[in-house]
Amino acid sequence: SKRVGFVGWRGMVGSVLMERMRAENDFRDIEPVFFSTSQVGEAGPDVGKDIPALKDANSIDELKALDVIVTCQGGDYTNEVFPKLREAGWDGYWIDAASALRMKDDAVIVLDPVNRRVIDEALQNGVKNYVGGNCTVSLMLMALGGLFNAGLVEWASAQTYQAASGAGAQNMRELLAQMGKLHADVAGLLADPRSAILDIDRVVAETMRGDQLPKDNFGHALAGSLLPWIDKQLDNGQSKEEWKAQAETNKILGRDGNPIPMDGTCVRIGAMRCHSQALTLKLTKDVPMDEINDIIASANDWVKVVPNEREVTLRELTPTAVTGTLTVPVGRLRKLNMGPQYLNAFTVGDQLLWGAAEPLRRMLRILLE
Ligand code: HSE
Repeated sequence: SKRVGFVGWRGMVGSVLMERMRAENDFRDIEPVFFSTSQVGEAGPDVGKDIPALKDANSIDELKALDVIVTCQGGDYTNEVFPKLREAGWDGYWIDAASALRMKDDAVIVLDPVNRRVIDEALQNGVKNYVGGNCTVSLMLMALGGLFNAGLVEWASAQTYQAASGAGAQNMRELLAQMGKLHADVAGLLADPRSAILDIDRVVAETMRGDQLPKDNFGHALAGSLLPWIDKQLDNGQSKEEWKAQAETNKILGRDGNPIPMDGTCVRIGAMRCHSQALTLKLTKDVPMDEINDIIASANDWVKVVPNEREVTLRELTPTAVTGTLTVPVGRLRKLNMGPQYLNAFTVGDQLLWGAAEPLRRMLRILLE
């Protein structure tokens, strides 16, 4: 069986990957070797079989002995170790959660329920580098990949509602700490039914603007507010997160020469780990709604069309309903006033599952087929 090395398995995405691999019995079919940057020689995680002690994640010699390396260690590690490994002649498969290699010509962005054909072609052509996509892009394509693959999308615009987890584990903690602080500062007033709501609101606004709110990670108040900028600022006015939508969507779909225009605004909101997106799609032709529903729903085993009705939408199309699950609901599907080729959609997905860990473990399984 293949010797598979794991780096960065203790972080948030790595932990979700380990959970999913245990749940799917993935360790049964491989010879896992766990690496660490700080705890070399200590015992590895419980994966239901004997494994060697933790090896040094910076040792090119140890890494070179592997058939496959799966890393959730982050972009700095990839930039540091990957070139050295290839220079040392290592010819194994590199599966990476970080964005460092994503747009390289010799790397494929993996999302097999959407682009299995692109992956299979790359494997046949000897491509060795397989990288998980940006979470927002992957979740959008898990939801609407049917329309894209059917050639029905002329362009798309996504306005996102992105969870704290996308910024990291510390940010999830900080969001909750901010919520707690906002509540604590008005707890007395809240407990008094005769207190004035505008007094409560004034105190909350002061707390959000003041120095007492924990903001080391976000740099700003997120609880009670939102942050309409994610990732770096680019020269063209887009955020890096917004830039990724078109670049990665088209790379995933294997349409580098003939890109579908995509653009929109990416916004951080106070959800824990589900990214939501409101989309406007211009279709290449007027397709009836029942056909649109069928195409979307039959595209993969995880997408679920939620009827565009109030009750079921509020029950099933929320981060609360989706968090911790692999289901990718898409709803609010209807034609817009702009005309019969303009489609509205809203989708929610777990940013740590299909947005990060799941495509990686599935790529590993593809290598074992
Ligand atoms: N850039 C994403 C976010 C993380 O900040 O939500 C997942 O790619």
